[in-house]
Amino acid sequence: MDPSYILRRFELRDLPRVISINRRCLPENYSESFFIGHYENFPEIFLVAEKDGEVVGYIMCRIESDFSGISFIPFSSPKKGHIISIAVLPEHQRKGIGRALIEKALENMAKIYNAKKCYLEVRVSNYPAINLYKKVGFEVQRIVKGYYADGENAYIMSKDIQ
Ligand SMILES: CC(C)(COP(=O)(O)OP(=O)(O)OC[C@H]1O[C@@H](n2cnc3c(N)ncnc32)[C@H](O)[C@@H]1OP(=O)(O)O)[C@@H](O)C(=O)NCCC(=O)NCCS
Repeated sequence: MDPSYILRRFELRDLPRVISINRRCLPENYSESFFIGHYENFPEIFLVAEKDGEVVGYIMCRIESDFSGISFIPFSSPKKGHIISIAVLPEHQRKGIGRALIEKALENMAKIYNAKKCYLEVRVSNYPAINLYKKVGFEVQRIVKGYYADGENAYIMSKDIQ
């Protein structure tokens, strides 16, 4: 990543800026409480990239447990990280920020939350994002037809992280 950028944890004061980056860069937009809920529950995997004191990108993730249905072994299924949203402002793209955000989030998922895998959904037409995910080691697992509100299909991509 260009050394003039730093990565740090999201803080509540970043919320308006993160919401504005989300609205500018992605059709999938969320309420304030959705962002705050992720910050409160998974603060180490909600990260921002900052340049000259201004937030220019973010990644927001969560940790999920797939319970196996065997109720007497509640922790039998490994935890998975889930990348919910990532965006970098267009004028700051192609400087390694997206990659740095994902790599730090993956590191924290494994080290802090003990997740063994990470997965995400991506529009099948979103070549920049698909390329980025492949570059950091994600592979396409399957397609979900009509996953997005406008009917576009999604790839589910995943990566082992421990
Ligand atoms: C996807 C996104 C986060 C990438 O952020 P970024 O900071 O530009 O990514 P990086 O600079 O770290 O790129 C890393 C690699 O990803 C791939 N990549 C990134 N942007 C690309 C593009 N426009 N076209 C093709 N490949 C691209 C390249 O392999 C790149 O490596 P390289 O620059 O050495 O060739 C950014 O394009 C974005 O915010 N897009 C809009 C929001 C979005 O689609 N989010 C994902 C939703 S699933």
